[in-house]
Amino acid sequence: MRDELAGAARDLAAYIKALDDTLVGAASARPAAEAAPAPLPPPSGPAAPADMQSLAEQVRNCRKCGLGVSRLNAVFGVGTFRARIVFVGEGPGFQEDHQGEPFVGRSGQLLDKIMETVLGLKRRDVYIANIVKCHPMKNPADPESRGNDRPPTPDEIAACRPYLDAQLGFIRPACIVTLGSVPTKVLLSTDKGISLMRGKWADYSPGNGAEPIKLMPTYHPAALLRNPNLKRDTWEDMKMVKAFLGTLE
Ligand code: URA
Repeated sequence: MRDELAGAARDLAAYIKALDDTLVGAASARPAAEAAPAPLPPPSGPAAPADMQSLAEQVRNCRKCGLGVSRLNAVFGVGTFRARIVFVGEGPGFQEDHQGEPFVGRSGQLLDKIMETVLGLKRRDVYIANIVKCHPMKNPADPESRGNDRPPTPDEIAACRPYLDAQLGFIRPACIVTLGSVPTKVLLSTDKGISLMRGKWADYSPGNGAEPIKLMPTYHPAALLRNPNLKRDTWEDMKMVKAFLGTLE
């Protein structure tokens, strides 16, 4: 028992150090060479790549809301169709809008590190998407300015929701991790804040009579950047996810 506790304390310390090291002197974005989407392995599930590719094409051409007009790049999603775990964020920021890939800025570096240190997974092993696929900007006329991010509006979320539903329907993951309040509220149809919801398994109902998917809400990596004390809660949430993934093996 004492050995187990000592081991857990060592793991937690290594995780916190890895997260801290990631951010010390980190550039605001990953180097371009790392930013390329991971190659997709052949699909084994119900998602034919052609279906996903045609959905991505629809998203690229989407003008259902104003975000489709102001954004530089649609940010569809990244990872493998065979993912057992899908991470869902809020919406692309500056860096994501420029690179067309989710979570490539500072939050993304932290997310990569959390996945790696706690779950032993890399970006190519999972799938990462957002509630809205285009960058919500305070001033849509100026996509080149920093600090121009805002949360998506209910109308933008409603317009974009079918794309995420379709992605989840293609992938049919064993579990979903929502990053922060917005995706948690949207996918669980709740008004409760993230600090109440995190660390407890919930059920996401995909609709159409499909089986519910287990969903773990946790903090958005950007919240960890603002408040490092949240790292430990996130570690605990991810340990629960790891334990669940272990039951699938
Ligand atoms: N924050 C998000 O919620 N999504 C991204 O892709 C990047 C930052």
